[in-house]
Amino acid sequence: MHSDKKTVLLGVTGGIAAYKSCEIVRGLQKAGVRVKVVMTENATKFVTPLTFRALTHEEVAVGMFDDAPSDPIHHISLAEEADLFLIAPATVNVIAKIANGICDDLLTTTACACTAPLVVCPAANVHMYESPANQRNMGLLALHGAKIIEADAGYLACGDIGKGRLADVDEIVRQTLLELGLTGDMRSTSVLITAGPTIEPIDPVRYITNFSSGKTGYALAKAAHERGADVTIVSGPVAVEAPEGVHVIPVRTAREMRDAVAEAFPACDIGIFAAAVADLRPKGEADHKLKKGIDDAALQTIELAQNPDILAEMGAHKQEGQVVVGFAAETNDVIANARKKLLAKHADMIIANHVGRGLAFGTEGNEIWMVTPDGEEHVPYMLKPELAHVILDKTIELMG
Ligand SMILES: Cc1cc2nc3c(=O)[nH]c(=O)nc-3n(C[C@H](O)[C@H](O)[C@H](O)COP(=O)(O)O)c2cc1C
Repeated sequence: MHSDKKTVLLGVTGGIAAYKSCEIVRGLQKAGVRVKVVMTENATKFVTPLTFRALTHEEVAVGMFDDAPSDPIHHISLAEEADLFLIAPATVNVIAKIANGICDDLLTTTACACTAPLVVCPAANVHMYESPANQRNMGLLALHGAKIIEADAGYLACGDIGKGRLADVDEIVRQTLLELGLTGDMRSTSVLITAGPTIEPIDPVRYITNFSSGKTGYALAKAAHERGADVTIVSGPVAVEAPEGVHVIPVRTAREMRDAVAEAFPACDIGIFAAAVADLRPKGEADHKLKKGIDDAALQTIELAQNPDILAEMGAHKQEGQVVVGFAAETNDVIANARKKLLAKHADMIIANHVGRGLAFGTEGNEIWMVTPDGEEHVPYMLKPELAHVILDKTIELMG
C-alpha cells in the first residue's frame, strides 16, 4: 500500500524534453512522493517505458486498451490514484487536446477524468510555443484551473533561440511539491504587502510623488508566494510586473492605500508596509488644470495636509498574533531612527536602510538593518529577491 505517500501521476508526451522527465521522477521521489507515469505513444519514441518502470518500480501506462494489471478501466483508476497530475513535458498537441476536452489516448482521457490539481509544463519549438493556437490553449487550461509552469527562453534543441525550453527541473519539482502542500514554510499564512509610491494630485494633470519603484515590495510578494503564502499587494503606480499568483489591489493616493489596507489587513497574519507613502498631500485637489497667469497663487504655494500614517494605524490596531513590519529609509542615524519608529508605530520589525548613497529607491539591491525589540541585524548588500527571503525568514521567526 502507498497510503502514507502522496502520488503524482506524471504525464510524459512526445517532445524532445521527455528525457528530463526522468530527473523530475527522481526529484519528486527524493521528496518522498510516489510517482506513476503515463505516456503518450509518441513519448515512447523519445524515452522507453522501461526507463520509467525502472525508476518508479511501477507499471507505466501507455495504451488506452492495454491490459492494466489491476483494472480494465485504467484511465479512471489512474485519475483516482493521483493527488496531482503533472504533465512534463507537455506538447503543443497534448495541451490543445486537454484544453478542448479531447480524449483520444490514455493520457488525455485520464486528464479529463482527473479531478486532482493539474500542473502543465509546456515545451516546444519557439514558433510552436508562441503560436496563437498554443497561447490560446494554454490560456484555456489556466482558465480551467490548471497551473502552467511556463517554458524558459534560451537555446532550443531545434537550433532556434527563444521561449520554449522546458522550465528548470528543480523549479518544476519545487512548484509541484508546493501544490501538493508538502513544502512552503509560509503555507496557510496570509500576507499583506504595500508597495510602490503614492501619488498625491495637485490638479487633474499634476501630482506629488517619490522615487519608489515598488521593486522591494514586489520581490517580497513573489518570495512569500513561492513559500506558499496567500499574498495581497496594495500597490501604488509602478512599472514592475505583478508576480504570478499574487492578488494586486491598485491604488493611487495614500488615502486610497489606507482604505484598501484597513479592509484587507484584519484577515492577514502578516503586514509588510514597504510602500513609500507620501507623508503630505496638497490640501484640496484643484478641479481644473491650474494655469500660469491665472492660477499663479495656487501654483506658487501648494498648501499641504497630513496623510494618514498607515503603519502607525495598523500597528495600533494589530490583533494578537499579527506581525507588522515597517520600512524606514533614512539619510542619517539609521538605526536610532528605525528604533524610534519601531516603538512609535507599535511595529514588530523595522527594515532600515540608508538612502542617498545610490542605494534603495529604484535599485536592484540594497543593504539593510532589521531592527526588532531584541536588537538589530545587519544584512549586507544583496539583490532584492534574495533580500526578500532574508526579511521573510526573520518575519516568520517573529511569528513565533
Ligand atoms: C525530434 C522531435 C522533437 C519534437 N519535440 C517537440 C516538442 O518539444 N514539443 C512539441 O510540442 N512537439 C514536439 N515534437 C512534435 C510532436 O512529437 C508531435 O506533435 C506529436 O504528435 C506529439 O504527440 P503527443 O502529444 O501525443 O505526445 C517533436 C517531434 C520530433 C520528431
